[in-house]
Amino acid sequence: MSSGHLIDLNDCTVNEWEALIKLASDIRLNPHDYIHRCEGKIMATLFYEPSTRTQMSFQAAMLRLGGQIIGFDNPVNSSVSKGETLKDTIRIVSGYSDIIVMRHPQEGSAKAASLFSLCPIVNAGDGGHLHPTQTITDLVTLSSVKGRLTDLQIGLCGDLKYGRTVHSLIKAMSNFKGNSFYLISTPELSIPLYIKEVLDASGCTYCKVNSLDECIGELDVLYMTRIQRERFATPEEYEKQRGVYILDIEKLKKAREDLSILHPLPRLDEIEIAIDDDSRAVYFRQAAYGMYARMALILKMLEEDFTDSKDEKLLIMQNICSNPRCIIHSEKYLKSFYKFNESNHPICLYCDEKL
Ligand code: CP
Repeated sequence: MSSGHLIDLNDCTVNEWEALIKLASDIRLNPHDYIHRCEGKIMATLFYEPSTRTQMSFQAAMLRLGGQIIGFDNPVNSSVSKGETLKDTIRIVSGYSDIIVMRHPQEGSAKAASLFSLCPIVNAGDGGHLHPTQTITDLVTLSSVKGRLTDLQIGLCGDLKYGRTVHSLIKAMSNFKGNSFYLISTPELSIPLYIKEVLDASGCTYCKVNSLDECIGELDVLYMTRIQRERFATPEEYEKQRGVYILDIEKLKKAREDLSILHPLPRLDEIEIAIDDDSRAVYFRQAAYGMYARMALILKMLEEDFTDSKDEKLLIMQNICSNPRCIIHSEKYLKSFYKFNESNHPICLYCDEKL
């Protein structure tokens, strides 16, 4: 990881992803070989937003590696409730721990945290922006169930606007040759502009479709997602989108026998419960693989010499980011910085919003 942190999966090279996938597989097959590997190390989990899988799989991962854990799963029980800034919290906790795993509702919060941390930061989800460790989980899962990460017809269905797992997965899978994407959503919940630009720059084929029926028969992988109620501006806007995409037994009749159905979970009603018993349903195995993926990640990140990895040159911009969900609007001391994206456009350093 070039920066020493994991903010975006593209912080790692494709070779590093492949090494993580291989290591996760070895840990899964030989867990006893790894039970002392993190003895003496402490991981802090700072969850400003609810989580079951990400938080507990990280905690289980560190405990299974012989390390220990500290942290909070509700900022109300920490000094965040007294008004402590993200900067101060990170500065303090990074003095107590060897690695910090953070989930936060604002987009770009993980990048902001990395600017003040004395130890590596792992982005465990920053608002509707990115969720790279879910993507490592997804890559480990696809590698195991499909035996390859190339030449796959991938359907992504549901909330493609706010679904950060979808954004990270597209960014990752567009690096592998021969993959094509069916983007199945309503116009209101289609992918953000910066993800469209990632796809355009990658040269992968992709198309937008309105219904699952149109493409389910073509797919190798169907990645279902929850409509992210908590990210909508009003309850009325959410109600208009709720229940639009439901995978049921009837729809599955049109799918191929070798389809793999993934979902980052939690699920509401977008996958009928009867499908859980179908051999094509991979989502519970996917959640289980998440722990091995995170064990591999913790090991790799703690092996790196963190102090040698901070040499980022920051570019100051005059205007403030126009994304209302960007961390810069809630942590007022943050400076406006920009970087260049794959198409050489200037974008917000924190949340990737185009300037
Ligand atoms: N997939 C995922 O991020 O689940 P949690 O919100 O339960 O962590």
